[in-house]
Amino acid sequence: MKAAVFQAQNALTLDDVPKPSPRPGEVVIRLQAAALNHRDLWILSGHYAGLKFPVIPGSDGAGIVCEVGAGVDPSWIDREVIVNPALDWGHHERAQEPRFNILGMPRDGTLAEYVAVPASALAPKPAHLTWEEAAALPLAGLTAYRAVFVRARLQAHEKVLITGIGAGTALFCLQFALAVGAVPFVTSSSPQKLDKAHLLGARHGALYNVSSWAKEFGEHYGPFDVIIDSAGGPGLGDLLDLAANGGRLVVFGATRGNPHEVAMRKVFWKQLSILGTTMGSPSDFAAMSELVTARAIHPIVSQVFPLDDVAGAFDVLARGAQFGKIVVRL
Ligand SMILES: NC(=O)c1ccc[n+]([C@@H]2O[C@H](COP(=O)([O-])OP(=O)(O)OC[C@H]3O[C@@H](n4cnc5c(N)ncnc54)[C@H](OP(=O)(O)O)[C@@H]3O)[C@@H](O)[C@H]2O)c1
Repeated sequence: MKAAVFQAQNALTLDDVPKPSPRPGEVVIRLQAAALNHRDLWILSGHYAGLKFPVIPGSDGAGIVCEVGAGVDPSWIDREVIVNPALDWGHHERAQEPRFNILGMPRDGTLAEYVAVPASALAPKPAHLTWEEAAALPLAGLTAYRAVFVRARLQAHEKVLITGIGAGTALFCLQFALAVGAVPFVTSSSPQKLDKAHLLGARHGALYNVSSWAKEFGEHYGPFDVIIDSAGGPGLGDLLDLAANGGRLVVFGATRGNPHEVAMRKVFWKQLSILGTTMGSPSDFAAMSELVTARAIHPIVSQVFPLDDVAGAFDVLARGAQFGKIVVRL
């Protein structure tokens, strides 16, 4: 089968590799579409824990089950599915257990014509989604669902600031915030992306790459009950200023690295909660899928590439030129 392969750090190739066979408890899916996440870039550039090469990357996929291994209900065959990439979460809702791992390293992922996954990771493809939209949903949708509902516990009418709205995860946060009746605000590096977010329902936006943006934005629209951030870095200080007293800051990424310092006094004086989150449990995934189906939410697909141009897909993500998910058609 044809697959994208990370041969080593910064070495992406398109190869012919053996088609996987299902082990006991697994199925093989003939993939129709896959999607990229920032995680794939971290792995390719060598900035990820437990690197393993060669590996087929890709945590997101949608397709048709074509083979089942021993112990798997054969009625899965021919069903249209998506895959929960948060594997071996464990037994508790509070957090994942140490054996937790993510599809697309160490296990081979979805940027291939076929993928083998545990049957327990399968979920029916929401019927209102195209293959491209379905592939865009799992990792970012799951992460956003847990950030918005399980960690932030965002309520109707609360003001929520979502940073870096071009990100696949951030756009799901926006869609979920709107679904619950919250009042969303966004930031971006791009005026065009702010315009697009506004059309989707964001109340106002700010360009985070303009110095002093936070002061002006805070004066006009703050303070914010909830802030959802995956950039981190020096900008975290601005977010502490923008948070309301008693506010909740949910973080699930560090695209800009670690903050140089954290103003401890602001954290305790404003009674802030800083809440880390990572992907989600199987019940979070089921609830996310139900919400997307019940509200007929369509993931925002930025661009679709053929597998032959998977390098082009990675290039868009590396430049941050996307608005939503980058999808690869298989
Ligand atoms: N812990 C988890 O479970 C988990 C799950 C998913 C993602 N993540 C992490 O979350 C981050 C986003 O992932 P993704 O796949 O959604 O990323 P993505 O689609 O590649 O988007 C990255 C976005 O980061 C935004 N950004 C860059 N610098 C920023 C800054 N200084 N302030 C605010 N935003 C900034 C940009 O937004 P604009 O284009 O609008 O400027 C860019 O589009 C990554 O670091 C990823 O590793 C973690």
